Amino acid sequence: MQEILDKYKSVSESQVAVWFKVGSVNDFPENGGGCIKYKSKQIAVYNFSRKGQWYACQNLCPHKMEMVLSRGMIGDEGGLAKVACPMHKKTFSLDTGQSLSDEDLKIAVYPVKVQDENVYIGFSE
Ligand code: FES
Repeated sequence: MQEILDKYKSVSESQVAVWFKVGSVNDFPENGGGCIKYKSKQIAVYNFSRKGQWYACQNLCPHKMEMVLSRGMIGDEGGLAKVACPMHKKTFSLDTGQSLSDEDLKIAVYPVKVQDENVYIGFSE
């Protein structure tokens, strides 16, 4: 279990070594998410069009280790973007990865950029 979780570490924009193209903006539903694979990682990508922002995080929900976060509902809490896991509704900040419903849980978040209608996620390796 821990081994799977260890694959996922948040990346800040200054740590990006690779901008990996994950598709075009039309591949991701408005105000919804999709799942992509990078090496052995599953990453959830969200087109938060209501906010005019894109977000990416691990697809793995650390609560019961389910690969489901890309199917979660995204929303706004006090101006901060969040995702609710579709399984048991635990919520996570898409800015910091910190759980908003359970102190001990955290997810990895990744920078996203959109260039010429293409979507890229930043990885450190
Ligand atoms: S598996 Fe995500 S909240 Fe339980």
